[in-house]
Amino acid sequence: MKHALVVGGTGMLADVSIWLLDQGYHVSIIARNSVRLHQLMERTSFKNKLTPLLVDYRNSDELQQQVHTTIEQNGEINLIVAWIHAKAPDALEVIAKEVSAHTADLELFHVLGSSKDLSKTKQEATFTKDSTYYQVRLGFVIKNNYSRWLTNKEISSGVIEALKQKDTIRTIGQIEPWERRP
Ligand SMILES: NC(=O)c1ccc[n+]([C@@H]2O[C@H](COP(=O)([O-])OP(=O)(O)OC[C@H]3O[C@@H](n4cnc5c(N)ncnc54)[C@H](OP(=O)(O)O)[C@@H]3O)[C@@H](O)[C@H]2O)c1
Repeated sequence: MKHALVVGGTGMLADVSIWLLDQGYHVSIIARNSVRLHQLMERTSFKNKLTPLLVDYRNSDELQQQVHTTIEQNGEINLIVAWIHAKAPDALEVIAKEVSAHTADLELFHVLGSSKDLSKTKQEATFTKDSTYYQVRLGFVIKNNYSRWLTNKEISSGVIEALKQKDTIRTIGQIEPWERRP
């Protein structure tokens, strides 16, 4: 069975987690709050295909161990979708290295905030050399001369579109003109 890992899969990527389950993936989800995880589980009839990894991704040892365990139990991971806060600069590397050690065929979708420098982020992510690396940038929306950040629904829909289209870089919403951001 295909196995996906969604980092931050209970928040704005919750609909992505559900969509992947519907597509036939076994889905492992990294988050800390068990209440939000159970709320997500209530939304799917594929509960047996969802593996919660309750871990603070700033704790590298525990993170690596939990990813290792889900690979052992549910098979190699072929897809990672990751939204990771800047306060955990090592988390993606820890995850990608553990996953890459068990598969030769990994796709990694890195979800990034509007102000991130994409080429710098890609250059620094040397650990992605063993995977196909995609970037999904979160933008904002200008409608009726009013500007706002994306909703969770818009973010998940845009990430699902990125997963389908496999663009190297996809921007959800817009980032220009930057001075019009909310
Ligand atoms: N450009 C834009 O439009 C833009 C950009 C960024 C954010 N936003 C908005 O801002 C809102 C808030 O952002 P958010 O980052 O709080 O998004 P979120 O996706 O709602 O929550 C973060 C996700 O990451 C997990 N997480 C956070 N810290 C973690 C840690 N240390 N270890 C493990 N898992 C962790 C959370 O689970 P736990 O809570 O269980 O740990 C949750 O699943 C979003 O809902 C989005 O709408 C908009």
